[in-house]
Amino acid sequence: NVTWVRAASLAELGEGAILGVAIGDKSIALYRLEDEGGVFATDNICTHALAYLSDGWLDGETIECPLHGGAFNVKTGKGVCAPVTKDLQTYEVRLEDGEIYVAMP
Ligand code: FES
Repeated sequence: NVTWVRAASLAELGEGAILGVAIGDKSIALYRLEDEGGVFATDNICTHALAYLSDGWLDGETIECPLHGGAFNVKTGKGVCAPVTKDLQTYEVRLEDGEIYVAMP
């Protein structure tokens, strides 16, 4: 079972932008892809060490970690670049009336 939690307004997240938000005791990164590619959510903390992906760089659907250059696919959470060895947790996203909701387990 999941709980849908309002995470942000869509207006706060421009195309190609990333936003770090706190949901409960978790830090979640929201990504809005360019060309109406949709909004995706993952854990904000890199699986390699302590870095916030919301401080990184979004390139297409790839988020590059700001600390050691590891990277993940924001849709699948899959690690796509060393030194990352563990995939990232992703969360389902729903858009409703200009608000972004994230499904929290
Ligand atoms: Fe992200 Fe090292 S902390 S690649």
